[in-house]
Amino acid sequence: VTNGPVFKLHGKGLLESLWPYFGQVSVIKIGDGERFKNQATLSRIYDGLFRARADRGSWILAFGGGVVGDIAGYAAATFMRGIRYASIPTTLLAQVDSSVGGKVAINCAQGKNLIGAFHQPAAVLSDTTILKTLPSRELASGLYEVVKCGAIASASLIRYLRRNLDAILCCESKQISHIVTEAARIKAGVVAADEREAHMRMILNFGHTLGHALETATSYRQFKHGEAVAWGMIAAAEFSGLRRAETELLAGLIHSIERLPALRGISPDAVWKALLLDKKSQKGKTRWVLLRRLGEAEIREDSDTETMRGLINDFLAREQEHSWAMAPSKIK
Ligand SMILES: NC(=O)c1ccc[n+]([C@@H]2O[C@H](COP(=O)([O-])OP(=O)(O)OC[C@H]3O[C@@H](n4cnc5c(N)ncnc54)[C@H](O)[C@@H]3O)[C@@H](O)[C@H]2O)c1
Repeated sequence: VTNGPVFKLHGKGLLESLWPYFGQVSVIKIGDGERFKNQATLSRIYDGLFRARADRGSWILAFGGGVVGDIAGYAAATFMRGIRYASIPTTLLAQVDSSVGGKVAINCAQGKNLIGAFHQPAAVLSDTTILKTLPSRELASGLYEVVKCGAIASASLIRYLRRNLDAILCCESKQISHIVTEAARIKAGVVAADEREAHMRMILNFGHTLGHALETATSYRQFKHGEAVAWGMIAAAEFSGLRRAETELLAGLIHSIERLPALRGISPDAVWKALLLDKKSQKGKTRWVLLRRLGEAEIREDSDTETMRGLINDFLAREQEHSWAMAPSKIK
């Protein structure tokens, strides 16, 4: 299961390498983008599987970014009550995040990823050379997730990213392989300890409390997911009360990856409303993943809602002022 653009770029190489082991395989192509991660596309995948005479012994191979991985994995979880699947993730985000952990899902009218399952892949093969064709904004989106892994579990990964950022942005194989391995190892370690997200897996949501609220408040139009999480991480690091040098290291790293879309025009009230509706919030209290120090996370509920709301308002106001100040140089 793949999509048109990925198959056009890398499909021939994939089929050639599968041929000696599997002979002819059936290719099921789906539409490109989040809007195709839905029930209609899922039905097309089932149709393709029946046409290919797939049975309980068949495998699905997901070949694409997180959208392909999530929906192909969900098809594998449900086709004939579950068949095996493997994944060759082709975006950085998919290599470090969505292909690890076994969460598979589709979207529905009521929201993102609300229909899904836990279904672990039998194998994940990450070929980092495939990332060379990724648009820079997609690479950056994946990098923010790598930063997240470092922030919650490995200060040395943060320092490595800082030292090697230029090589990483050029997809130099040694450096990119190192960060993919480290981030996947960190995520796999957290998931292995808490597969069904009873508690510890929540630390993977660092930056996501405010990140999701920003996405909702802007109707998913202004930010890619990773970019919203990047803003969320900068805010959460501040709210954590880290040492100033640590907050600056993290924020400096995030800002040097790529210019984040500005927070301009976003209403603090809309953000707060979205925060209260988030599934992580309960009884009017918002839940945050904060940092004890760089490389160590903890989960906290806000104990004083008004103070939290004030912190968010101040953060948005300051960053909005900052982005206005930066705007003229961009126009020039
Ligand atoms: N299951 C999980 O645990 C989990 C975790 C995080 C995100 N996700 C899901 O992942 C999805 C986002 O994944 P994504 O960021 O990979 O987006 P995506 O799958 O839409 O891929 C981004 C774009 O890059 C293109 N692309 C993919 N590989 C390429 C390559 N090698 N060269 C050039 N272009 C390429 C795709 O065609 C697409 O246009 C969301 O649906 C999100 O919900 C799931």
